[in-house]
Amino acid sequence: MDAQTFFRKLDRIQEIPTLPTVALKVNKMLQDYDTSIKTLSKTIEKDQAMVSKILRLVNSAFYGFQSRINNIPHAVTILGFNTVRNAVISVSIIDTFSEKGAFEGFNVTDFWKHSVAVAVTSRYLAEKTRLAIPDESFVAGLLHDVGKVVLAQHFKEFFGQVWESMHKDDLSFYEAEKKLLPANHAQIGAHLAKRWHLPAGLIDAMRYHHAVRKTAYNLNLLISVHVADIIVNNYKIDPESESDFSVTHPEAVKLMAAELETVSDWFPNVSTEIESACDFFLEEGE
Ligand SMILES: [Fe+2]
Ligand SMILES: [Fe+2]
Repeated sequence: MDAQTFFRKLDRIQEIPTLPTVALKVNKMLQDYDTSIKTLSKTIEKDQAMVSKILRLVNSAFYGFQSRINNIPHAVTILGFNTVRNAVISVSIIDTFSEKGAFEGFNVTDFWKHSVAVAVTSRYLAEKTRLAIPDESFVAGLLHDVGKVVLAQHFKEFFGQVWESMHKDDLSFYEAEKKLLPANHAQIGAHLAKRWHLPAGLIDAMRYHHAVRKTAYNLNLLISVHVADIIVNNYKIDPESESDFSVTHPEAVKLMAAELETVSDWFPNVSTEIESACDFFLEEGE
C-alpha cells in the first residue's frame, strides 16, 4: 500500500473520532479576530460537562491561580482566549481517544501517560527558554503521538507488524514504522489535525516531531516537543543510566543547550508535575 492509498483509506474510516463539536467551534472562533468573550463563553457553556472540566482544570494546582475562577467568562478574561482554547482541546482529546478496542499490545493509559509527560516537559522547556508559548507546547505535546492510537485502533495489522519488528529487531516504534508502513504516526496525526483545522504550528509540531524540519511553521514549538519527547523516553527506560540524546536534531541542541546539559537537575521536579497532571487528566470515570 502506498501513502496515498493509505491516507485515502484513513479518510474513509467513519469511526475515526473527531474533536467534539464544542472544541472544533472554539478552535474556529479563535481564528476569527471578532470573537468576543461572550460568544466564546456561550459556545463552551453549551457543553456542561466541558464547563465543569475546564473550571476544575483552571482551578487546579496546574495553573496555580490564587483566587477561584467560577465561570467561563471569568476564565477567559483571566487566562485569555488561547489558554482557554488549549484547555478545551486538551480535555477533549483525551476523552475522545481513550476508547477501548485497540491492538492488544497497546495500552491506552500508558500512551496518555507518555503524552501528558511530553506535554508537561515541553511546556517547561517553552517557559524556560521563552522560545515558544508554554500553553501551545503543552497541547502539542499532548497530541504529538495521537497517530499511534489511530494505528492501534484502526490499522491493527500494521500496528502488529510494527510491534513485532520493534521487539524482534530492537527498533524504536518510529524506525519500525519507517521500515514497514506507508505512513508513520507523526504523519497520521498531522493529517488528522489538519482535518480538524488545528493551527498550522501544531500540525507541523506533530508531523515533524521525530524528524525536525527547519522550515516548519513554528520551529520553536516543534523543537520544544521534539526535545521533550526525547527526554521523556530516555528517562522512562532507565532513570539511572546515562541519557542518549543522539537523536536530538542539531538545531534543537543549539537552541536548548542549557536545558539539555542540566536535564538531570530539573527533570525530577518536572516529574512531580507530570504525576499531578496525570492525576488530573487521566482520572477515571469523569
Ligand atoms: Fe512519536
Ligand atoms: Fe512520543
